[in-house]
Amino acid sequence: MCGIVGYVGDRPVVPLLLDGLKRLEYRGYDSAGVAVVRDGEIVTCKAEGKLENLVARLDSAPLAGSHGLGHTRWATHGAPSERNAHPMVDARGRLALIHNGIIENFLPLKRRLAEEGWAFRSDTDTEVIANLVSERLDGDLLPAVLAACRQLEGMYAFAVLSTAGGDGHQEIVAARQGPPLLLGLGDGEQYLASDPAALLAHTRDVVFLENGDVARITPRSVEVFDGSGEPVERRAQRLDWDPVQADKGGYRHYMLKEIHEQTQAVQDTFAGRIDFATGEVLLEGFAAVDERLAAASRLHVLACGTSWHAALVGKFLIEELARLPVEVDYGSEYRYRHPIVDEGVVAVGISQSGETADTLSAMQAARELGAAALVAVCNVRGSEATRISDATVYTHAGPEIGVASTKAFTTQLVALYLLALHLRRVRGEEPDPALAGELAHLPQALDRVLASEREIRQIARRYHRARDFLFLGRGINYPIALEGALKLKEISYIHAEGYPAGEMKHGPIALIDPDMPVVAIATGERVYDKVKSNMQEVHARDGIVIAVTDRDPEDVEDVADEVIRVPRVAEWLQPVVNVVPLQLLAYHVGVRRGADVDQPRNLAKSVTVE
Ligand code: G6P
Repeated sequence: MCGIVGYVGDRPVVPLLLDGLKRLEYRGYDSAGVAVVRDGEIVTCKAEGKLENLVARLDSAPLAGSHGLGHTRWATHGAPSERNAHPMVDARGRLALIHNGIIENFLPLKRRLAEEGWAFRSDTDTEVIANLVSERLDGDLLPAVLAACRQLEGMYAFAVLSTAGGDGHQEIVAARQGPPLLLGLGDGEQYLASDPAALLAHTRDVVFLENGDVARITPRSVEVFDGSGEPVERRAQRLDWDPVQADKGGYRHYMLKEIHEQTQAVQDTFAGRIDFATGEVLLEGFAAVDERLAAASRLHVLACGTSWHAALVGKFLIEELARLPVEVDYGSEYRYRHPIVDEGVVAVGISQSGETADTLSAMQAARELGAAALVAVCNVRGSEATRISDATVYTHAGPEIGVASTKAFTTQLVALYLLALHLRRVRGEEPDPALAGELAHLPQALDRVLASEREIRQIARRYHRARDFLFLGRGINYPIALEGALKLKEISYIHAEGYPAGEMKHGPIALIDPDMPVVAIATGERVYDKVKSNMQEVHARDGIVIAVTDRDPEDVEDVADEVIRVPRVAEWLQPVVNVVPLQLLAYHVGVRRGADVDQPRNLAKSVTVE
C-alpha cells in the first residue's frame, strides 16, 4: 500500500525523504515521488517503477528545499505511471499532496471542480483532494485542509505542503480518516510517516493520529486538531522497537532474516507472561475484560491473509484448551454475511500491522452488532486494532519488513496459545504448569529446525521448476498446509493449494502426476497414520512426496521421496515448528526462480484499503 513520509527541519530534505521511502519499500509500490518547496515554488520529481529510478533522476537533477514530502504509490485509481505518481500538484501550482486510501466520492467532486475550471492531469482521486484544498487555500493551509476533509467520503491519510505562508515558512498539514499516519518528534525537526519503520532511524518518539485528526507540523511545533479545528491532545509514545531490527543485518533478504529471528521472537512473546511454577498466564490489561471472557458463549475471530491462518490454529487451541466455541472469518467476509452477534460474543481481531482495513472493519462491525468485548492480537503498539480493542495480546516479533509474513505468524500462534490458557483459567479451570511449561521447549526446537536449512535448500533446488504444489495437513496442521501454500504462491508465483489431507481423495488426487510435489505434514500421534496413508495414495500415483515429519526417516521412506525432519513438541505447539521448513522451502524456491522475495509483485505488506 502507499507509503507516506514528510520532513520539516534544517537538514537536507531529499536524502531524508528517500531514506524514509526506502524503509517503506516493503509495503509494495509501483511508482514513487518527492516534492519540496524551493524558493517559494513547489518542485516535484517522480518516476514509475522502483525507487532506484527516482534516485537516478534525483542524482542527475538534484533537488533541494526547505521541507518536503515523499510517496510510494500502490495504484488504486489510475494505472501505475509517472502521470499518476504522487505528489500531486494542484492546478494552480500552489501545493503538493500525497495520499493513501480511496476517496469514494471523487467522481462527483472531480466533475464539479472541472466544471468550475480546475484542470486535471492524472486519473487519480488524489488530485481531487489537491484541487479541493487549493480551492479553499487563502494564506493558511490548515483551514483549507479542514474544509476539504468535510467534503471527502472514504478512507484517507494525506499530507500537504504549500507555498502559502511565504518563503521560509516550513509547514506540513496532514489528515487521517482510516489508513495509518503518525508524527515523529525531533529536536527542531519533525517527521511524518505512514509506518513507524520509516522513522525508527531518526526518532522513536511518535504520535499516532486518530481518525478525524488533522495535524500541523513545523520544525518547532506539533499541533493536532479535530474535524472542526478544535485542538485535541494526543499523547506521544515511545516505540520499543530497536532501529537495527528494521535492517537486513547481513542477510540477503528481510524474509530470511525474519525466518531466523523466530527463535528469539517466539521466546520474547511468552517471556514474562508465564509463571512456570504455577502455570499461571499473565496477560497485561486483561483484567478489564476477564469478566466478559468468563461469560462469553463463543468467540468470533477475524483476520486476513496469514493472520487468518493463525486464527484457524487458534480455533483448535481455544476449543480444545478452553472448550469455548470459535468461529473464524475473513475480515472481508464477516460484514457481508449478517453474523449473529449478541452479548455472548467476544470478537478477536488478529493482525500483524493492526492496520488492515478489512480486519478493522470486521472488528468494528462486531462491536456495532453488540459483541461484549473486542480483543486484539497484534504486533504494533498504538496501531488502530489495539486502539479500538478493550485488551490486546501483543506479539513481540519486532518490525516485520518482508511482505510474506513469517515471524509475525509464529508469534501469533504463541499469543493464541497464551490466550487459550488464559481463557481456560478465567472459565474456571486450574492453571496447569505442564501446559504452560510446553512453551519452554519451543526455542530449542526452532533452532533445530532452522539448522536444517541446507537440506531444505537442496529440496528447493530439485523442485523449483514445478508448476504446481499441493500441501496436505490434518487437524491443527491443516492451517499450516494452507500457510505453506500461501507462502509459496506469494514468494515464487508457483500455483499451490493447501488441503486437509483426508479431503485429497475428493478432488485434488486427480491432479497427482510425476511432476507434482506434494508436501505432507505428518507429525504427532493423533492423525499420523492417516496422513501416512494419504502419502501412500500420492506415492502409488507416481506423485512426489515431501514429508515433514517428527518420525525417523525410515518410518516414511517407503512413501516419501524427500524427508524434512522436525523436532517433536507438544501437539498444540507443533504448528509453530512445522511451518518453519515450509517458510524456508518457499524462500529458497523463490530465490532459485529469481523472484523478488521481499517485495513480490502486486502484494502489499499492510492492506489499508478495503
Ligand atoms: C497482507 C500481507 C500478509 C498479511 C495480511 C494481513 O496481505 O501481505 O502478509 O498476512 O496482509 O495483514 P495483518 O497486518 O492484518 O496481519
